[in-house]
Amino acid sequence: MPQRPPPQSPLPRRGARSQPPLHIQAPPLRRPARSKTPLILAAGVAAYGLSLYTAYLYTTIKDLPPAPSSPRLQPSNAKVYNALASEYDTSIWFSELTMGLPLLRRALARRAHGHVLEASVGTGRNAAYYDMDKCASVTVVDSSLEMLTVARAAFASRHPRSGTRVRCVHMDAAAPLPPPPTPAGGKYDVAIQSMGICSHEDPIALLRNLARSVKSGSEGGRIVLLEHGRSRFEWINDLLDRLAWGHARRWGCWWNRDIGELVERSGLKLLEVRRYHFGTTWWVVAVPPDEDKTIVSSSP
Ligand SMILES: C[S@@+](CC[C@H](N)C(=O)[O-])C[C@H]1O[C@@H](n2cnc3c(N)ncnc32)[C@H](O)[C@@H]1O
Repeated sequence: MPQRPPPQSPLPRRGARSQPPLHIQAPPLRRPARSKTPLILAAGVAAYGLSLYTAYLYTTIKDLPPAPSSPRLQPSNAKVYNALASEYDTSIWFSELTMGLPLLRRALARRAHGHVLEASVGTGRNAAYYDMDKCASVTVVDSSLEMLTVARAAFASRHPRSGTRVRCVHMDAAAPLPPPPTPAGGKYDVAIQSMGICSHEDPIALLRNLARSVKSGSEGGRIVLLEHGRSRFEWINDLLDRLAWGHARRWGCWWNRDIGELVERSGLKLLEVRRYHFGTTWWVVAVPPDEDKTIVSSSP
């Protein structure tokens, strides 16, 4: 009978020459091949849903009547701001962030120096960006008491040491504005406004009023505007026109106004014009009309 070899002990025998440890590598586990079918099916269902939704949106929007773009033909919805004030900031901060508007607001407020007027201040969304060391006074104006109350709190929390240098005035910004808080009165160094033209009943009267309230260009007076309105592209304007009724009812603002035309008709002399977001966002620096200035920069 053939002899079986003795069972091998896992321990090395005494006197045996030590062997290098044996590394036995387990063969890599092979995952069972996953079928791509569910993924393809899910993508197909998603694409189908998206195309249905786009078609639904398109047919719904194309049936909406386009709104006029002239302020004279647009009913004022400014009264909605009292009701909007408490939710305004939480409703718009995210869309503003995705559009990079905080950067433009910062650039706007950084133009403020000396005696400053901010018209249509709303909830004070520019408050955070003011450099109060450069401002002798800041007068903010709004026709909605509720919006102005939020703005007052925003300035107080952002600039707690500014005290009486910040004035909040509840009034129509198209009516004669108070002079800066100096014994001599006089005019403001800078007037700023963001997203105001869209909600004013008579934006040209407002712009002319701002022009009357700031120093002349040669004295350093400036009007700086950050506004939104019609685009460079007709297909966007068509969308803006058709959605304008609903937007104005909800937000009090007419987003299909022609900002360039309104600023031009106000007689302000333009120093800078820049447009962003397909031309719907406007950055304008201007001086009152008595100055002989022409456009010195205009982005495509
Ligand atoms: C779209 S909100 C913009 C607020 C703010 N400037 C901003 O950038 O978020 C427009 C603001 O203009 C104000 N407004 C509308 N008509 C006005 C008028 N005639 N005089 C003063 N404020 C007015 C509204 O009350 C509202 O607060």
